[in-house]
Amino acid sequence: MNNNEYNRNAMDLLGKLYSGGRSSEVDTADNINADLPLEQRFRPYSLSGLGVALEYQRMGMRPVSADLEEKAARFGYEFEHLAVTLGTVIHNIDLKDDLTDEQISFIRQTLLERKVIFFHDQNLSEDQQVEFGKRFGTLDAFPFGPPGENPYLFYIHHNENRPGSENNWHTDVTWMENPSLGSIAQVDVAPPIGGSTLFSDSHAAYLGLPADLKERLQHVHGINDYRVFMRKYPEELHDEIKQKVPFGVSHPLLRTHPETGKTALYVHLGFVRQDALFDIRTGETLPIEECRDIIRQINLQHMREEYVCRFTYGTGSIAFWDNRAVQHYAASDYWPHERVLRRVTISGDRPYYDPSQSP
Ligand SMILES: [Fe+2]
Repeated sequence: MNNNEYNRNAMDLLGKLYSGGRSSEVDTADNINADLPLEQRFRPYSLSGLGVALEYQRMGMRPVSADLEEKAARFGYEFEHLAVTLGTVIHNIDLKDDLTDEQISFIRQTLLERKVIFFHDQNLSEDQQVEFGKRFGTLDAFPFGPPGENPYLFYIHHNENRPGSENNWHTDVTWMENPSLGSIAQVDVAPPIGGSTLFSDSHAAYLGLPADLKERLQHVHGINDYRVFMRKYPEELHDEIKQKVPFGVSHPLLRTHPETGKTALYVHLGFVRQDALFDIRTGETLPIEECRDIIRQINLQHMREEYVCRFTYGTGSIAFWDNRAVQHYAASDYWPHERVLRRVTISGDRPYYDPSQSP
């Protein structure tokens, strides 16, 4: 069939299928779907769209609350939203200023509503970054990386000989009993192109899971440890390290956000022992096939595009994310260029899952 014949046939068919004018499947669906709950309007293969829609609905069908918008206007700040349910750049703010408690509480509220927030052209000194971090709580020291002058700073430095390696979806430090609440990362040297960090909404990712998996995950915990770091250190130090920092802590795969009450999908696949998920009610390890099936199903969830926003750093840009609400992925696409990032982490609390709170 040549192209002309194809087009003749296609138009012929179109006339037959839509002979009643505009009574197309879409128009019919519009009428039917108006009465259906959101869950039934999305096709079974479009659950990520549903996850975002449910989260947006819960957010009051707006990127930020009216209250927050009013406060931003009062301070003269401007929001630039990067995705529907997460990620906002706050413009017209200088974090080097002596910020008032109201300004800090505004930043905190924006973090809670948007899950990850960004600032350009800040260029904080080490001390200024530490001081800014302390306005949100105590800080966590990181024992497994080269410190800056200040032990609360952790440097992530990549170049031609040591290319970027944080390119996996994760939430930070799940090997800790009380994993950090969030991180404040400033890029001191940005590559000329690339080097973005992607963030994914763990609440929307949870809402977009198939119903049977949501149900199954309710009682599943995993053991998390820092074995990947141990390879760097000589064997004779291992006992001492394990004595100082608990090795192997149990966390739920579903986590209730302690401030918003929302449920998040909560897992770091590099730290969790993937073959030893267990049922918290019985303490029994799940059969290996079930562990594999659960890991396989949740593995790809955060990387679905609908849940993701992408932030490109300039020199002095800052990302401030809520580890309880997002996962992140640092794109390793800037070789052979250099990228230097330093972060402080704010102390968090023990993850728990309380199904009686908001879904
Ligand atoms: Fe990270």
